[in-house]
Amino acid sequence: MEQNISIEKPKGKLGVLMPGLGAVATTFIAGVSAIKKGFSKPIGSLTQMGTIRLGKRADKRVPKIKDFIELAKLDDLVFGGWDIFSDNVYEAALNAGVLNKDLLDSVREEIEEIKPMKAVFDKNYVKKLDGDHVKKADTKYDYAQMLIEDIHNFKADNNLDRLVMVWCASTEVFITTDPVHDTVESLEKAMKENHPAIAPSMIYAYASIMAGVPFANGAPNLTVDIPAISELAGKKGIPIAGKDFKTGQTLIKTILAPGFKARLLGLNGWFSTNILGNRDGEVLDDPDAFKTKEESKLSVLEHILQPEIYPDLYEKFYHKVRINYYPPRRDNKEGWDNIDIFGWLGYPMQIKVDFLCRDSILAAPLVLDLAIFMDLAQRSNMKGIQEWLSFYFKSPMCAPELYPEHDLFIQLMKLKNTLRNLKGEDLITHLGLEYYD
Ligand SMILES: NC(=O)c1ccc[n+]([C@@H]2O[C@H](COP(=O)([O-])OP(=O)(O)OC[C@H]3O[C@@H](n4cnc5c(N)ncnc54)[C@H](O)[C@@H]3O)[C@@H](O)[C@H]2O)c1
Repeated sequence: MEQNISIEKPKGKLGVLMPGLGAVATTFIAGVSAIKKGFSKPIGSLTQMGTIRLGKRADKRVPKIKDFIELAKLDDLVFGGWDIFSDNVYEAALNAGVLNKDLLDSVREEIEEIKPMKAVFDKNYVKKLDGDHVKKADTKYDYAQMLIEDIHNFKADNNLDRLVMVWCASTEVFITTDPVHDTVESLEKAMKENHPAIAPSMIYAYASIMAGVPFANGAPNLTVDIPAISELAGKKGIPIAGKDFKTGQTLIKTILAPGFKARLLGLNGWFSTNILGNRDGEVLDDPDAFKTKEESKLSVLEHILQPEIYPDLYEKFYHKVRINYYPPRRDNKEGWDNIDIFGWLGYPMQIKVDFLCRDSILAAPLVLDLAIFMDLAQRSNMKGIQEWLSFYFKSPMCAPELYPEHDLFIQLMKLKNTLRNLKGEDLITHLGLEYYD
């Protein structure tokens, strides 16, 4: 048996705060409301539909995850957030065009009540957007204090027991780590001096942690992936996780690539291109924002295929990712992959994938699971980077001395073993000891 860690019971309400009430956030909120009313099932959500095998296969113990470990219930979730547009969640969801009007009308009353708080926004970091529902302050540090106040007010007004924050706002321009990101002290000083290396997403993350709220980053922005925030999260005992929801093309990539490696099939090249027409697509049409996304999407294959360990198979593969803004498709992205692989004696083969996906439909259950698991982490006293939640991210955060794990199946194993460990159950190794005396 592994150690049984004490998990505080989830009592009362859990607030889910989201910077960015756009397509993903509104699809998530309206979806949860529809599911609570029994109109649909929480498809795609591990916390709601997933199971976990315990003990030996013959024991036939396979409870649902939500019956196995103490998780917040859908009925206990309360939603809020910030946006640069003042539309309520019903209006924003209609505008996003992901869910149909009939479904939105069936939950209109409850989602219409959710109105965004004024955002911390700077056009220098999201060049394609303009909005007037924004806060005004002199310094980035002052903005952080205003967000902390918002968080406290939201908690008090809604009579909440706990909160989590999930970044669902736009992708910011590409920025790299800067010496001001090194320590909490240098970060705070830089915020007071309005240093350009402090993006709005970092101000939200800082405010979240200072207010004692776990923070998960759904976009590829640097945000919490800097030493100062890790240090702060460690000191304050707050879980952080990121980055960039793993959906669509990258999800398929991290499903296929481990299969090629398992069968020792080589790779000559992988060309991925997308068309999408939602606001996210428009933001990513800016080359600086695309660069942030590109970095996140490109690292996946290198880490899964390990060319340094398998030079004969993966040393020279060519990997290209393209995103094209094409308004008619709105949220319904089409992702094409052309994959050039080779097998026995080096004979080449091709695989073509055409994934007609729905971006926010794939992302919404991830927001739900992250909110619920980040709350579990907080109640279980798990602080800092939550690597066991890599399953949900394109660019999983990990300790500086480690490399990220991208293989979806290893990620799932790690997640479930973490849950087993929390509950004092044996970890599953798939080692069949029955062959030995
Ligand atoms: N499958 C997916 O949909 C998917 C996958 C991975 C990552 N993401 C990321 O999730 C994020 C949300 O995607 P989306 O499709 O909902 O985009 P969206 O454009 O519909 O919504 C983003 C919202 O954030 C708001 N916003 C921008 N900057 C803000 C700020 N500083 N504070 C508050 N609000 C701000 C915008 O006004 C917009 O309403 C994007 O960063 C996207 O790259 C989405």
